[in-house]
Amino acid sequence: MLPKQSVKRIIVLFVLLVSPLLAVHTQKAFAQTSEIPTDAEAIAAGEVLFQQNCKTCHNIETKLIGPALKNVYDRREMPWIIKFVQNSTKVIQSGDEYAVNLYEEYNRTMMTTFDFLEDKDVVNIVAYIKDQTDNPPVAAAAPAGGAVGDGAAQPAGVPAAYLNAIIIIGVILLTALLIIMFMIIRTLGKYINLREDIPDEEKEFAEQWNPFALARNKAFVGILVAIGTMIVAKGAIDNLYSVGVQQGYAPKQPIAYSHALHAGEYGIDCNYCHTGVTKSKNANIPSANICMNCHSSIVEGTKTGTAEIQKIYDAIENNEPIEWVRIHNLPDHAYFNHQQHYAVGGLECQTCHGPIEEMEVVYQYSNLTMGWCINCHRDTEINTKDNAYYDELLRLHEEESDKPFTVEANGGLECAKCHY
Ligand code: HEC
Ligand code: HEC
Ligand code: HEC
Ligand code: HEC
Ligand code: HEC
Ligand code: HEC
Repeated sequence: MLPKQSVKRIIVLFVLLVSPLLAVHTQKAFAQTSEIPTDAEAIAAGEVLFQQNCKTCHNIETKLIGPALKNVYDRREMPWIIKFVQNSTKVIQSGDEYAVNLYEEYNRTMMTTFDFLEDKDVVNIVAYIKDQTDNPPVAAAAPAGGAVGDGAAQPAGVPAAYLNAIIIIGVILLTALLIIMFMIIRTLGKYINLREDIPDEEKEFAEQWNPFALARNKAFVGILVAIGTMIVAKGAIDNLYSVGVQQGYAPKQPIAYSHALHAGEYGIDCNYCHTGVTKSKNANIPSANICMNCHSSIVEGTKTGTAEIQKIYDAIENNEPIEWVRIHNLPDHAYFNHQQHYAVGGLECQTCHGPIEEMEVVYQYSNLTMGWCINCHRDTEINTKDNAYYDELLRLHEEESDKPFTVEANGGLECAKCHY
């Protein structure tokens, strides 16, 4: 332990040393921010300039092509910001250490030269940036997350949480009712026993229904145990069946690619990207080259300058595939073929995958269990129109049976059709 005296001395020394530094620091920050106008006029003028010139590469809160501009006025002095915005190349070439590092960090992306902007214009832009930093817009934050939530909840009619609550309350009420009835029966039984005027055989009859006598009855107990075992077993089997079932699974993807935008709003055909559906087992996930058919030519000023699009370019440049997270996945022992169902069977993608064209983030719509496959094979008639392959099979089927020619009737429930 240090003596009290020296602890005090150390503290005093520390405060003496640090306070001037603190003072300088706060003063600097104060001087800096006080230069930035806060009047609505300057902010509005700055907003217009920002939207016209900077938006394609900068966001306030997040990184795009360039850094997030939030708090940039704390990182740099105003004169530096003005010089940099007006001609960043000149600042970088002058060997300014901060600028050179930033330039390297952003993969040597050149910021556009804005020599037509007056000093005052840049100050106004910074005023807008500061205003946005201090009062971030509220609405912009939510959309992506919201879409995922909606997606996962989609398949259920009544929300599961309510359903469970209703069932639990029901069970409690019924149990209470049962107990009350038992008590009434018992009381009545006792009362009957006390009455002298009731003959013995009638008392015996009443005694049979005494719940406590019932508990001693082997047959009754046997039935109860059997029912209990069945319930537990059913639960266990259901659980086994749902091992690996991932209905509603909607992982975050490496690029914020949206089916709602591409397949929905712009109406791009599913098989433009999923080229396998007409000719093979797998639907295929498109390579970055297919994205580039459009994203190399859509022009500036749109959303195409964003960091998300930059990721496609990075993948091509580094010759690395985009690592999409797979959503639908049958176990290895099961065989499923897209061509058979889409091209031959004529089923819509949406029958199995749900409203993909409305999904911001794809989620697994169906549960993909064996029961799901089988149920559809039982109910669905084979589309035999214009398919010579089925002519003979259909004729044979109609000779033998007057039931519809379902997938089941054609052997679609045979284990080997779906299992290797
Ligand atoms: C073509 C894309 C592009 C445009 C347009 C653009 N910038 Fe930049 N900006 C960048 C990049 C990239 C950097 C990082 C430094 C570098 O690579 O040169 C940067 C850096 C900056 C910095 C330094 C940030 C820091 O963290 O220190 C400021 C300030 C800045 N830009 C302001 C602006 C303003 C204001 C506008 C609009 C008038 C604008 N930029 C327009 C790409 C752009
Ligand atoms: C512009 C290209 C493009 C179009 C058009 C497109 N998709 Fe996709 N699709 C993708 C990409 C990329 C992925 C992987 C990333 C993801 O899951 O969002 C994907 C994923 C999927 C998945 C999930 C695959 C998995 O991992 O299990 C399904 C299902 C799907 N698409 C169905 C459709 C359907 C149905 C349509 C038409 C309504 C369609 N897609 C249109 C590009 C496209
Ligand atoms: C047939 C043309 C076409 C193809 C192919 C295409 N896109 Fe797009 N994409 C568009 C259009 C059009 C937009 C909307 C641009 C806008 O609003 O400015 C867009 C927008 C986007 C956006 C939104 C940009 C943003 O940040 O808001 C992303 C991300 C995107 N596409 C990713 C992809 C990926 C990944 C692929 C390949 C799997 C792909 N696109 C294939 C046409 C296409
Ligand atoms: C009969 C139901 C069914 C139909 C119809 C269907 N799919 Fe699938 N899809 C599946 C199943 C099941 C899987 C999982 C396959 C696996 O894991 O082997 C899957 C997987 C996928 C995948 C993941 C990657 C892959 O190559 O398997 C994509 C992408 C896909 N489907 C797109 C589509 C598109 C696009 C259509 C319409 C043209 C479509 N699907 C029609 C059932 C269907
Ligand atoms: C929405 C209905 C539907 C679902 C769900 C479905 N199928 Fe099918 N399936 C069909 C239809 C319709 C055909 C007949 C296609 C044809 O040949 O005309 C078929 C045919 C098949 C065949 C060929 C049968 C034969 O007799 O040659 C196999 C194998 C098959 N499905 C496997 C699967 C598997 C595995 C799943 C589940 C992962 C599945 N199917 C889910 C409708 C469905
Ligand atoms: C229409 C296609 C189809 C037919 C026909 C089919 N299965 Fe399956 N089976 C599947 C699929 C798909 C899975 C994977 C389900 C999952 O992952 O939950 C599966 C899973 C299984 C499993 C693993 C347990 C499980 O639920 O994951 C067993 C065991 C199995 N099947 C046995 C059989 C037997 C035996 C038959 C013949 C009587 C048969 N299957 C017929 C599609 C089929």
